Amino acid sequence: MKKKSCVILAATGTVGQRLVDMLSKHPSFDIVDISASKRSAGLKYRDRLKDEWHLPSEIPEEIGEMTIKLTDPKEVEPADIAFGALPSSEAKVIEPKFAAAGYYVQSKASAMRMEADVPLLIPELNVDHLELIDIQRKNRDWSGAITTDPNCTTVGFAFALKPIYEEFGIKSVVANTWQAISGSGIPGVPGLLINENIIPFIKGEEEKVESEVLKILGKKEPSGVRNAEFRIASTCTRVPITDGHFETAYINTERKIENIEDVISCLKKFKGTPEFLKIKQKLSYAPDDPIVYRSEINRPQPRLDRMAGTVPGMATTIGRVRRGIDDYSVNLCLLSHNTIRGAAGSSVLGAEVAIALDLV
Ligand SMILES: NC(=O)c1ccc[n+]([C@@H]2O[C@H](COP(=O)([O-])OP(=O)(O)OC[C@H]3O[C@@H](n4cnc5c(N)ncnc54)[C@H](OP(=O)(O)O)[C@@H]3O)[C@@H](O)[C@H]2O)c1
Repeated sequence: MKKKSCVILAATGTVGQRLVDMLSKHPSFDIVDISASKRSAGLKYRDRLKDEWHLPSEIPEEIGEMTIKLTDPKEVEPADIAFGALPSSEAKVIEPKFAAAGYYVQSKASAMRMEADVPLLIPELNVDHLELIDIQRKNRDWSGAITTDPNCTTVGFAFALKPIYEEFGIKSVVANTWQAISGSGIPGVPGLLINENIIPFIKGEEEKVESEVLKILGKKEPSGVRNAEFRIASTCTRVPITDGHFETAYINTERKIENIEDVISCLKKFKGTPEFLKIKQKLSYAPDDPIVYRSEINRPQPRLDRMAGTVPGMATTIGRVRRGIDDYSVNLCLLSHNTIRGAAGSSVLGAEVAIALDLV
């Protein structure tokens, strides 16, 4: 297959570095340019990141030699795809310019996630939402497009809730999180504040979890997506863990749960929607089992489970599935890698899907 050319917008940040690492090794993509803010523009990538590269692998040789550009379609090379890892406030202005200039933007930012004509994609759960791209291109007169990936915290919840929603219906969910420091980017939370501590507030996070899951699990209709209608209440906290968000969900169901083994079985057998399974063999970043179920009483754990999956870091691990207070409730724990499945890995998989569906 001919490679697709791509640019990475905000290639110097936590997510941008992961994108550089993943895309430079990926056979379907050719990185033709990288960009960041004016504080980095004009510098060689290797020089800019000599003290700030945070991954155990080395900076890829060719990318290290590239000069960082300003993040503007007039400054960077033309390409099929723009991977966006910008702060949301910047993405809101910059990414539409790239879409108008013909790039297929795969965005990590929250700016456009809840727009009615913008897909909020988890391919295994809602690949049919990419039909919104046609509506988007008509609405906005773009030759390119914007697709968004969910917040890193939303991803794990969405995987856990989807099979239960399909099988038992959901009335409401109470969600709690213990989130890794890498989720707050570079430089992130100061060590003095986070060591030996839990910070019980992450700005905007609870609102994102509570709204995004409903769009992701929503139904694609001819005019757009009709959101799922259950309610979610969440508490999001930051903890001194490098990578991997640990989350719990207490789920009240519409239908009676006769046997808790039925819930475990629907989680274990979930591989994706029929639409997703039709294209799965074309996707190298899709793990064989997007949900890994652990029966041990002390799992999942961030250190043991964040790299779960046949594609490391791309599966959500679920454990401690047990009854709630009655036959209409279930309690569970989950673990999802926030900078792989929750960030750069989602973007790479999303772009693979767009190629498989001829959207790029
Ligand atoms: N970290 C995660 O786990 C995670 C997960 C899901 C989603 N996200 C989302 O992904 C995006 C990036 O997050 P991050 O954690 O990678 O942040 P980060 O580590 O703080 O990096 C921010 C990046 O944005 C660039 N930037 C800042 N202002 C800019 C501007 N005016 N023009 C162009 N580039 C600009 C920075 O470039 P300079 O180096 O030049 O300043 C840097 O490359 C955010 O929207 C975030 O909410 C992050």
